[in-house]
Amino acid sequence: MPVITLANTKGGAGKTTAALILATELARHGARVTILDADPQHWISHWMDISGAVRNIQVISHVTMASIQGHIRENRHNTDYFIVDLAGARNTLMATAIGLSDHVLIPIQGCAMDAKGGAQVLELLGHLEEKAGIRIPHSVVLTRVNSLVTTRALQVVKELLAERRVTVLDTPIIERSAFRDIFDCGGTLQTMDASRVSNLDKARDNARTFADEVRRLVPLRTVGTVRRAA
Ligand SMILES: Nc1ncnc2c1ncn2[C@@H]1O[C@H](COP(=O)(O)OP(=O)(O)OP(=O)(O)O)[C@@H](O)[C@H]1O
Ligand SMILES: [Mg+2]
Repeated sequence: MPVITLANTKGGAGKTTAALILATELARHGARVTILDADPQHWISHWMDISGAVRNIQVISHVTMASIQGHIRENRHNTDYFIVDLAGARNTLMATAIGLSDHVLIPIQGCAMDAKGGAQVLELLGHLEEKAGIRIPHSVVLTRVNSLVTTRALQVVKELLAERRVTVLDTPIIERSAFRDIFDCGGTLQTMDASRVSNLDKARDNARTFADEVRRLVPLRTVGTVRRAA
């Protein structure tokens, strides 16, 4: 039951959106997903409330530093993937969640190129490895990327991050109204009405490719929470 945490200390980087897209896609593939909602804005808890039951997904609200480990322990037998949605802040809950993670996904807005919040998460991961010998696998996912941005431009960003030895997912999350509307409509991209949401098919394709990449990076057989660096 791998734990995947979405982290970026900058508000509005796209953590909650990426967390929900990932959770609904993993659940569609039959994985039992527990979302640990530690975002003070509770968007995912609200989404669950208006959705009613969604197959394979449960949401635990008001997750705190004191409760997170207990939630993971208590639900590990009924969960294939835990997804942690954090606040856009640098705090002890973030450090605790990262320490419990099998993979940290760092959403960085591709359009704004504002990587400062992401850099703070990378810094913390670097400290953990240097000082405590704990290496937590992590990667950047570019979010809110304009659909017209060329592959070449994204390649440049990837190369810049690669120079810092940071892995960037091949699939960016594109700016799509479906990824906003899902929080108002509830349900999943599959249950949304294609006649009311523009480019829903493209959003579905994007979500599928993103989640497939994450599943390859964090397969279900991953066991344990932290690894010691060699
Ligand atoms: N791919 C996307 N397409 C369209 N809108 C998006 C996308 N990603 C994020 N947004 C919008 O950008 C805003 C911020 O996104 P989100 O809430 O996911 O960020 P966050 O990192 O969780 O923010 P916070 O730090 O405040 O928790 C929201 O209004 C959301 O609907
Ligand atoms: Mg959020």
